[in-house]
Amino acid sequence: MARIIGGVATTHVPSIGKAIAENKQNDPYWKPFFQGFDYVHYWLAREKPDIAVVFYNDHGLNFFLDKLPTFAVGAAKEYRNEDEGWGIPVARAIEGDPDLSWHIINALVADEFDITMCQDMLVDHSVTIPMALMWPGNKRHPVRIVPVSINTVQHPLPSLKRCLNLGRSVGRAIESYPQDVRVMIVGTGGLSHQLDGKRAGFINKEFDKLCMDKLTGEPEALTRYSIHDWVEQAGAQGVEFLNWMAMRGALTGQVTEVHRNYHIPISNTAAATVVLENRTKAERKAA
Ligand SMILES: [Fe+2]
Repeated sequence: MARIIGGVATTHVPSIGKAIAENKQNDPYWKPFFQGFDYVHYWLAREKPDIAVVFYNDHGLNFFLDKLPTFAVGAAKEYRNEDEGWGIPVARAIEGDPDLSWHIINALVADEFDITMCQDMLVDHSVTIPMALMWPGNKRHPVRIVPVSINTVQHPLPSLKRCLNLGRSVGRAIESYPQDVRVMIVGTGGLSHQLDGKRAGFINKEFDKLCMDKLTGEPEALTRYSIHDWVEQAGAQGVEFLNWMAMRGALTGQVTEVHRNYHIPISNTAAATVVLENRTKAERKAA
């Protein structure tokens, strides 16, 4: 049976891709952020996932405002990136896992989530940057992915509760997957940031801390915030935390935060990286 080993959540701002391309990981501006991935690399080398289910939000590469699904699941053999106009190099294609994709899609529809199924899907920096951060270098990634896109762009957005429940449904689907694979969950984006308008540059350190504190043991506490509350507290683009909520929902066992890095600012964004471990019931019994 498939096993969910844990989750990684990380900021995905495009300027990270530029910093990687220009080899600036050790520049004083970037070092505190990139250093936060040392533990992630150690954890991935130890845990050796086969597949990553990635909750992310497309910024106009695959979906634009004319057609924007609330939730979309990739079911492709491969996911390509294209020039998004941020001045970052086009990332290499990432291998998919159509079998697990269809298993998740079937389970989500059975659970009454009306999703869009994508057998051909481009992935943007919201997927490619976290992949490059987790597995640096221009090598083929050691995991296959199942991308799950959440609308954080065109209002009305799904609620925090809905995204937590989406993640839970995905988690149950993975647990019932008969193949013996190790699955990690990724949530990308955030934390607090606002890129335009009167509050451009807005960051809320206290709220970010509260979100990270509640995420592990008490994610339901965050569902009391409406999307409009969230925009007020975390900025217009801080709603990308919906991807973190879905990631947390997919961790179905006993969850422990084993790593956290928080650094302000990167490109007007509160940059955060978190690793959560997931111990299943059976593992807890065996321990
Ligand atoms: Fe974003």
